[in-house]
Amino acid sequence: MDSWVRVLILVACLYPVFVECKVRRYQFNVVMKNTIRLCSTKSIVTVNGKFPGPTLYAREDDTVLIRVINRVKYNVSIHWHGVRQLQTGWSDGPAYITQCPIQPGHSYVYNFTLTGQRGTLLWHAHILWLRVTVHGAIVILPKLGVPYPFPKPDHESVVILAEWWKSDTEAVINQALKSGLAPNVSDAHTINGHPGPVSNCPSTGGFTLNVAPGKTYMLRLINAALNEELFFKIAGHKLTVVEVDATYVKPFTIDTILIAPGQTTNVLVAANQGVGKYMVAASPFMDTPVVAVDNMTATATLHYSGTLAASPTSFTSPPAQNATPVANNFINSLKSLNSNTYPAKVPQTIDHSLFFTVGLGVNPCPSCKAGNGTRVVANINNVTFVMPTIALLQANVFNIKGVFTTDFPGNPPSPYNYTGTPPANLGTTTGTKVYRLPYNATVQVVLQDTGIIAPENHPVHLHGFNFFAVGRGLGNYNSKTDPKNFNLIDPVERNTIGVPSGGWVAIRFRADNPGVWFLHCHLEVHTTWGLKMAFLVDNGKGPNESLLPPPKDLPKC
Ligand code: C2O
Repeated sequence: MDSWVRVLILVACLYPVFVECKVRRYQFNVVMKNTIRLCSTKSIVTVNGKFPGPTLYAREDDTVLIRVINRVKYNVSIHWHGVRQLQTGWSDGPAYITQCPIQPGHSYVYNFTLTGQRGTLLWHAHILWLRVTVHGAIVILPKLGVPYPFPKPDHESVVILAEWWKSDTEAVINQALKSGLAPNVSDAHTINGHPGPVSNCPSTGGFTLNVAPGKTYMLRLINAALNEELFFKIAGHKLTVVEVDATYVKPFTIDTILIAPGQTTNVLVAANQGVGKYMVAASPFMDTPVVAVDNMTATATLHYSGTLAASPTSFTSPPAQNATPVANNFINSLKSLNSNTYPAKVPQTIDHSLFFTVGLGVNPCPSCKAGNGTRVVANINNVTFVMPTIALLQANVFNIKGVFTTDFPGNPPSPYNYTGTPPANLGTTTGTKVYRLPYNATVQVVLQDTGIIAPENHPVHLHGFNFFAVGRGLGNYNSKTDPKNFNLIDPVERNTIGVPSGGWVAIRFRADNPGVWFLHCHLEVHTTWGLKMAFLVDNGKGPNESLLPPPKDLPKC
């Protein structure tokens, strides 16, 4: 092949809508970039100088190779959130779980195949609080010639929601850890990088989605915020939900969607209203009054072609911050598509039945003056996870002793009334513990929120798997009566699920992916505080059921 033909194919493969390419190559340069938001300049960590970062396009079954080059002063790793990483745990990305971080001046090639998934996912930094600005979309198109299971939209757009701090976020979390108290909340939410006009900076620009009357648009919504669940709505327009977390759902139409950090949602919007400008709003959801959130609403504009420049915007008011019914209305509408082509393979029998409490705790901290000698921590089954200094996957494969133990408890060590009066002792134990699973075991995890300090909604994310959300309720989970109401037919399939405030959610998955897989709250502050654990899934029989050998360029600690 002529070399210019090869170059042409290489370039064309970055636009997979048109061509068939089995391998897609990307280069991610992690660099600092000066940028203006809220009328002040700030230097941020970015990929290729972009905020949000570049969109990764591929088709189902494609192999993606991303060379990440670290040109900043921080250690870096990138996680491909929701990508199953079948047998390729080395490319999953969470620092000190599946890899040592990429050190300044070094690079690493992530190499994985997109098997059995199509839709929208996100990638983000998985170390420190760098994901605040180091994030972007993953668009997985169906195989060439395979249609969507819903009417094809005329256009598609990626819409990324995030949070913006005026100050340096590494300083924000470091200061909080020193004090023992919660970190400062963000100063604004953003839609595709922009907060929209705000009162103390009215000139600030906002994202504009240009539409033509009569056309249909698919928005690939992503919540890349660090700490906040968000409502999303568009003045005068309905949203038809067709997919979440890269799995198809039974389409339903709704005014307001709820999206937690790490979650993705594809919606269809018909431009069927009068020509004009319509407000798009993203605002926080928090139904625990004592937990502080950034109450700023980010706005963007849906702009019909043919609109006169002077025409006013049709406004919408966001739901109340504590609008639990609006949140529940969305959550309860989600069901797997469960068609012949896309069946919901819900495990009907369970090998490992686990019960995990998720919540906060209080531990001694003599140096924490602001916290009066104590610090807020978070835990699963009363274990506050301690990050190792060697990646767990490495330690397991190379048989390095003393890095982790396999005694993560499958049940709370001492049961109590989780959503009632808190116990007298709010302390937790610490450790780097994993829960070990044989290959192909079926697993049920009931995630139970605790009311310690405050009940709170926790968006829990599992790496390496999709799970089915078979049940959900308020108060304490009842193992006798609640399973009778489980949906084992068409429950929603996802990779990140909100555990309701003062309630529980039951998830099921099949451990068909060998490796070490992180499970954690996707509110970054809770991850930092220790609301995290990992599953160690053994290899099965033969090479097709085993983790691939480690890549040559795997970073060292
Ligand atoms: Cu999107 Cu472990 O995270």
